Amino acid sequence: MEPLPEHLEHDGLVLRRWTEADAALVGDLVAANIEHLRPYMPWIEHEPLTIEARRALQRGWDEVWSAGGDVMLGVFEDGVPVGSSGLHRRIGEGGLEIGYWVHVDHLGKGIARRASSGLTSLAFTVPGIDRVEIHHDLTNVRSRRIPEQLGFHLIGRSKEPRTPQAPADTGVDLVWRMTRHAWLAR
Ligand SMILES: CC(C)(COP(=O)(O)OP(=O)(O)OC[C@H]1O[C@@H](n2cnc3c(N)ncnc32)[C@H](O)[C@@H]1OP(=O)(O)O)[C@@H](O)C(=O)NCCC(=O)NCCS
Repeated sequence: MEPLPEHLEHDGLVLRRWTEADAALVGDLVAANIEHLRPYMPWIEHEPLTIEARRALQRGWDEVWSAGGDVMLGVFEDGVPVGSSGLHRRIGEGGLEIGYWVHVDHLGKGIARRASSGLTSLAFTVPGIDRVEIHHDLTNVRSRRIPEQLGFHLIGRSKEPRTPQAPADTGVDLVWRMTRHAWLAR
């Protein structure tokens, strides 16, 4: 499979793929956001990683991306890293799921909405992709506003509840979907 796109400029934001060379930058970004991310991001319990562990993690992401898998992207505004986002192949053939988190000092500026809007358009440039989804925990009301604002359709709750993996996680996700047709027609 061709690698997913690794660069996007959209509505005042630059999104570019995180690479191993960004290990220190990502480390600082995560370190400044540990308590902000703890409620809903299960991976945060392993933070802060050592720089060696983060380099290894990022090398793993590089390999996955090179093989056509998920792309993990830094989100920058005016050259400042303000969050992290990604396109994930975990929702089956023909689909990509958007994931995001935003730096606690930059909330409420539409960063997640703008990044997700750009990523939705980008996803539909990928051959074979005809649906984009956003999944979030039932109680994550700030996250819910992103697909709502972008006109995604609420498909419903995830069929199989997950074991809750983070302190505020209920184990039940809401699933929002945008089709290629609806996005291009909006
Ligand atoms: C969810 C998250 C990514 C939203 O990022 P953001 O860039 O602030 O979002 P946006 O500015 O695009 O706006 C989203 C909504 O949240 C609201 N919001 C954002 N920050 C807020 C704050 N500090 N207080 C109250 N509301 C806030 C916005 O006003 C907007 O709602 P509106 O459309 O009704 O005005 C961010 O809160 C975050 O990183 N949360 C922790 C990680 C997480 O939960 N990720 C998503 C997992 S599915």
